[in-house]
Amino acid sequence: MIFGHVDQLRIRDAELSDAAAVLGMLNQLDEETRFMMLEPGERGLDVARFAGWLANLRLRQDCYLVAAEGDDVVGFAHAERGTYRRNKHSAVVVMGLLPEARGRGIGSQLLGAIDTWAQTVGVTRLELTVMAHNLPAIGLYSKRGYAAEGVRRQSLIVDGLPVDELVMAKILPGS
Ligand SMILES: CC(C)(COP(=O)(O)OP(=O)(O)OC[C@H]1O[C@@H](n2cnc3c(N)ncnc32)[C@H](O)[C@@H]1OP(=O)(O)O)[C@@H](O)C(=O)NCCC(=O)NCCS
Repeated sequence: MIFGHVDQLRIRDAELSDAAAVLGMLNQLDEETRFMMLEPGERGLDVARFAGWLANLRLRQDCYLVAAEGDDVVGFAHAERGTYRRNKHSAVVVMGLLPEARGRGIGSQLLGAIDTWAQTVGVTRLELTVMAHNLPAIGLYSKRGYAAEGVRRQSLIVDGLPVDELVMAKILPGS
């Protein structure tokens, strides 16, 4: 499914054939920003393993979107649902964009596409965590209707220092 476009950019479901490009982008992000979960090099370069994980995610009808410009993948957003009856209405969202893709409304579009997926599969709660000092991301999530629910104090150690995370969530209309 194609969800939308900005200039030459397309937001679409990740295909298994995207695995190498997506993994490359994730590794680039891990190098460039301290706002993602993994440290540089920690993710590894095993494309087959990543493709297997993507295939499982698709089997479960969870969501992995990419922002692609031609053959280049410049960003992603994914959402994974709970696996039990009591939490399968709720999905955890993770996203990131390479520097050249930021500030162009692409993050907003990705989250709009996540909302569309959520409504299609009956997800009524979207949640995420974000480092408490990641103001661009908090701005984006607030704009897209996510509200802060609490602070996970010193939940991460980044470059040797404790970092708090905000828990943010969005309840979809109609639920
Ligand atoms: C956070 C991130 C996804 C934002 O995506 P983006 O495409 O740049 O955001 P958009 O262009 O769609 O902006 C939407 C809103 O987000 C907020 N925002 C975006 N960039 C911002 C910045 N640098 N400073 C403050 N607010 C910002 C604004 O509210 C903006 O709305 P506006 O344009 O009307 O002011 C992107 O900066 C990114 O990938 N950063 C690095 C990785 C990361 O932090 N991932 C999230 C981990 S939780």
